[in-house]
Amino acid sequence: RPAQDLAGRHVVVSAGGTREPLDPVRFLGNRSSGKQGYALARSAAARGARVTLLAANTALPDPAGVDIVPVGTAVQLREAVLKAAADADAVVMAAAVADFRPETYATGKIKKKDGEAPAPIALVRNPDILAEIAGDRPRAGQVVVGFAAETDDVLANGRAKLARKGCDLLVVNEVGERKTFGSEQNEAIVLGADGSETPVPYGPKEDLADTIWDLVVQRLV
Ligand code: C5P
Repeated sequence: RPAQDLAGRHVVVSAGGTREPLDPVRFLGNRSSGKQGYALARSAAARGARVTLLAANTALPDPAGVDIVPVGTAVQLREAVLKAAADADAVVMAAAVADFRPETYATGKIKKKDGEAPAPIALVRNPDILAEIAGDRPRAGQVVVGFAAETDDVLANGRAKLARKGCDLLVVNEVGERKTFGSEQNEAIVLGADGSETPVPYGPKEDLADTIWDLVVQRLV
């Protein structure tokens, strides 16, 4: 049994990826499986936390002893985060949130017409949920953790993103072959707003989850 260092705490974890509908049968989405977020939820529950898992379009077994709130779009995820975070000690945004959504939703299936050029899809910005809650903490002293997938200049881009988002910890993944999306394994560097840098070697997503909670526990008041 792991140390019960999250006993009496409420933690909120988002997992999966948002889907932004175009019409009743189509959406803009991403490849996030939700595995890292689910590993975070299982790890926090094992350490004694009350866990709210905001699950965006996942197809994974429900972790035992965790409250699961299914969500679809970024706007729905934002509502769910704001509600769950009101009394949370920590919020970990592991979900891949779409930066943009289609400007309009067609209530009927969009049809192709012979000889006509395809219609462009107009997009609008989604709210940045992480920046919003990090900038205006729903509860004082709350620890806010974000994720960033970077392909180049991982550390410099990660530092800049940590500052821009205003979170306490940023888990930076280098996106590449066999890593991260859909995989059972992950490798990351966890950057702290205090300047700390914690490398987590390539290994099971459970190991990264445990390290993230270790760093959160150090920052809880
Ligand atoms: O800006 P970027 O998408 O790289 O940031 C990733 C982090 O921000 C993730 O933690 C993700 O959950 C969060 N995010 C968010 N709302 C958005 C976009 C990203 O909370 N609209």
